[in-house]
Amino acid sequence: MRDKLNEIKDRALLQIAGAEGLEALNEVRNTILGKKGELTAILKGMKDVSPEDRPKVGKWVNETREAIESCLSTQLKKLESEALKARYSAEKIDVTMPAKMQPKGRLNPVTLVRNQLIDIFGSMGFEVYEGTEIETDYYNFTALNTPDDHPARDMQDTFYLSPEFLLRTQTSAGQVHAMEAGKPPIKIISPGKVFRSDDDATHSPMFSQMEGLVVDKGITLCDLKGMLDKFCKEIFGQEVKTRLRPSYFPFTEPSVEVDVSCFQCGGSGCKLCKGTGWIEVLGAGVVNTKVLEGCGIDTNEYSGFAFGIGMERIAMLKYGINNIKLLFESDLRVLDQLEE
Ligand code: PHE
Repeated sequence: MRDKLNEIKDRALLQIAGAEGLEALNEVRNTILGKKGELTAILKGMKDVSPEDRPKVGKWVNETREAIESCLSTQLKKLESEALKARYSAEKIDVTMPAKMQPKGRLNPVTLVRNQLIDIFGSMGFEVYEGTEIETDYYNFTALNTPDDHPARDMQDTFYLSPEFLLRTQTSAGQVHAMEAGKPPIKIISPGKVFRSDDDATHSPMFSQMEGLVVDKGITLCDLKGMLDKFCKEIFGQEVKTRLRPSYFPFTEPSVEVDVSCFQCGGSGCKLCKGTGWIEVLGAGVVNTKVLEGCGIDTNEYSGFAFGIGMERIAMLKYGINNIKLLFESDLRVLDQLEE
């Protein structure tokens, strides 16, 4: 019996040492200590051993089992720690590895211009007034001294939604709302989308304007010129000069077109300024007294000026973009070339 137990033990220890994984080790345990295991069978057979031999044989069997179990548990620990090490090295993260670069989006040039204009006019004390894109014929035209039969309506090809409602053709529509909503002094800018049935390399049916309106005591064309001069220097460079040319808008009198000296050639004439040395940047004027009166403002006491800036136009000039469609595609190959 002693020999048999020793033989079982030696074989078990060999098998345990040779078990290469947790599963193999479990199998070894089952074949010896499991329900149908060799050592279990011997334990079951103890009842057949004579009573005087039983303590002695029992002791051998227990010693054998303990030896096998202690060997099993040592091997289990070893295999478990090996498995953990293998997992650690498989899941290891190299924190020094360079990250995959994600392409980064950029602000649209029109948004850049919008932000710059808000900064510039904000620093001059203008507040932002948000108008609405759908307007009534009254606010877009009639209240701006452009009645039904007025020829100036032909200046802008309008998208009508119904006889009464339309997509605003100009942010000037917001002027009237602002004057109805608050008493002078008024000093607002109103950026937003406008719509006109117009489509070529420099025009799009949807584009963006920034309206400006100042109503206060003693406002004159001089104030407008001084302020626009400062604005043009801020946006195009301190060296640019501005000039006013007579123009016509029904809601301003007098009306002007504002030009800046070409910031590319310095005024000597180039492709950008079409050889003239000047670039047209915006329309403006002294608010027509008819518009002020229509909003219930006493024109003996108050006067005002207004201006309207086409933001796509400024963006195209500033960033040297020659087709307005590029502004709406948000193509990173274009946007990445812009200096903010
Ligand atoms: N609303 C005019 C346009 O769209 C621009 C403008 C605004 C002119 C304010 C004068 C004063 O052409």
